[in-house]
Amino acid sequence: MKVLVTGGLGFIGSHTVVELQNSGFDVIIIDNLSNASIDVMDGIVSITGKTPIFEKLDLKDKAEVQQFFKSNEDISGVIHFAASKAVGESVENPLLYYENNINSLVYIIQEVKKLERCNFIFSSSCTVYGQADSMPISESAPIKPAESPYGNTKQIGETIIKDVCKIKESFNAIALRYFNPIGAHKSANIGELPIGVPQNLVPYITQTAAGIRKELSVFGDNYPTNDGTCIRDYIHVVDIAKAHVIALQRLLDFKNDTNFEVFNLGTGTGSSVLEVIQSFERVSNQKLNYKIVNRREGDVISAYADTKKANTVLGWKAESSLDDAMLSAWKWQQKL
Ligand code: UFG
Repeated sequence: MKVLVTGGLGFIGSHTVVELQNSGFDVIIIDNLSNASIDVMDGIVSITGKTPIFEKLDLKDKAEVQQFFKSNEDISGVIHFAASKAVGESVENPLLYYENNINSLVYIIQEVKKLERCNFIFSSSCTVYGQADSMPISESAPIKPAESPYGNTKQIGETIIKDVCKIKESFNAIALRYFNPIGAHKSANIGELPIGVPQNLVPYITQTAAGIRKELSVFGDNYPTNDGTCIRDYIHVVDIAKAHVIALQRLLDFKNDTNFEVFNLGTGTGSSVLEVIQSFERVSNQKLNYKIVNRREGDVISAYADTKKANTVLGWKAESSLDDAMLSAWKWQQKL
């Protein structure tokens, strides 16, 4: 079966391509290479022994998207990762985010909708919950006003898909709300490739340990948590990738309960920034250079998933521990 993976050379996309190919799917990757390297293909091939089809295509180009689907009417499912994802950049340049993340989604859905049966998996984020009123956060928690244009594109994206599902019964979609994806494939042949200074905690930690950054700044230690630092649900990217294969199979097997479903992808365990640092120090056997600085604007205090629905309805459970994920991230950094 042919599956289209947009943004398939990105961090989560590339790991998902590996899991799809390992499960017997034929993969077509669309990527405009704006935030990914073509070298990621080599990593995918070295792990799976299979070369996915690659099309360099910008999903903001409506005519090109139409042309692509005209030549690929036999696609069984679409996993849509392609999007800009830097929270700070989205505040600086909101229109770029609305154009990249919303226009492309609309163009692709317009074409997918023409297929006989459409199976669509959407990359969403726990950012849609904002600072939730209680922990863990279940899928029924209210959607809070978005903190950033990036977060808003995820909320709007889900709404667009839901609205299309309402008017077209054969359009089947699953939105997967990721908590904090970290780590890399165990082979260390693919992983996260942040451009410039990393904004996220784990690549900043590994780059500091590798000597690329002088020290990690821990943003605030006076939050109302056990050790004063923020709590997140860090989940191994390979676990996230596997959830996409399971979600797609659910749609292919007609097992979905409704034609628009939402699942949290997290471990269910919250870890503080200091606990992540301790995990890194444990698995790498070295001390990390860090200092406590002021809070970062826009950070929520705590966010971790209620995973019941994903565990029981989707039939997926995160398998890797925080230490597994940190070790894989460190191995990837060393290889880089
Ligand atoms: N942190 C630091 N120092 C750093 C980087 C991060 O202390 O150099 C802290 C943050 O303050 C936060 C935690 O580490 O407490 C995690 O920060 P990340 O930037 O790694 O992750 P976020 O939870 O802020 O962001 C993630 C995704 C976003 C998404 C957001 C929704 O990366 O795409 O969750 O909450 F929008």
